[in-house]
Amino acid sequence: MKILITAGPTREAIDPVRYISNRSSGKMGYAIAEAALAKGHEVILVSGPVVLGAPEEAQCLPVESAREMYSTVEKQLNGCHAAIYCAAVSDYRIKDIATQKIKKSEEGMMLHLEKTEDILGSCRSKFNYQGVLVGFAAETENLEANARAKMEKKGCDLLVANDVSRKDIGFDSDQNEVTLFFKDGTSQKIPIQKKRLLATKIIEIVESMI
Ligand code: PMT
Repeated sequence: MKILITAGPTREAIDPVRYISNRSSGKMGYAIAEAALAKGHEVILVSGPVVLGAPEEAQCLPVESAREMYSTVEKQLNGCHAAIYCAAVSDYRIKDIATQKIKKSEEGMMLHLEKTEDILGSCRSKFNYQGVLVGFAAETENLEANARAKMEKKGCDLLVANDVSRKDIGFDSDQNEVTLFFKDGTSQKIPIQKKRLLATKIIEIVESMI
């Protein structure tokens, strides 16, 4: 089966040398890509800037900003049986990117931000995607309520929620602990384990949904 996976952070430029980003390492998304490949699936990996090497058999499409990730996903989604959105996409970008390096001044500085495209949220409404849709939720509080709201709003079949306030899981850790929320309202807590093992579980669940 053909599976699209997004991974890593996005970078939103402020000027030619600075950007806004987040702490995503790509480890979770790349582990999912490896797990899907190990099970014989065709993988399209749309990845923000990470230091990890791309799995050789995946079709890896590097992107930098949320806008680039959005247009790449839109082009690649057709014909995919499942799409798994693990990337930590910036929700905001700089409204007017400076063409030259911004000079330091004595005063503070205001940055005018505007919303980025919601990639996961566009799948059902704009891309007319009918396949299995898996979202992630990175939360620091009210995990269940926030995750269920995201799942509903974005039309996911499965939502994988993690607590990113913890140092031992989530961002840049080799392990993760998640709660899976299913469309029928049920949920399943997966105890802390290597992202590699968790990735295999997620792929097995996705296979059962296709
Ligand atoms: O990369 P690692 O260091 O291994 O860390 C893994 C992880 C913490 C990044 C991962 O497990 C995770 O939680 N990924 C989702 C991060 C995120 O952006 O969560 P969110 O709750 O802000 O977004 C909800 C969902 O919408 C996500 O599926 C996200 O990919 C998607 N999204 C968000 C914003 C946006 N503009 N477009 C999107 O598609």
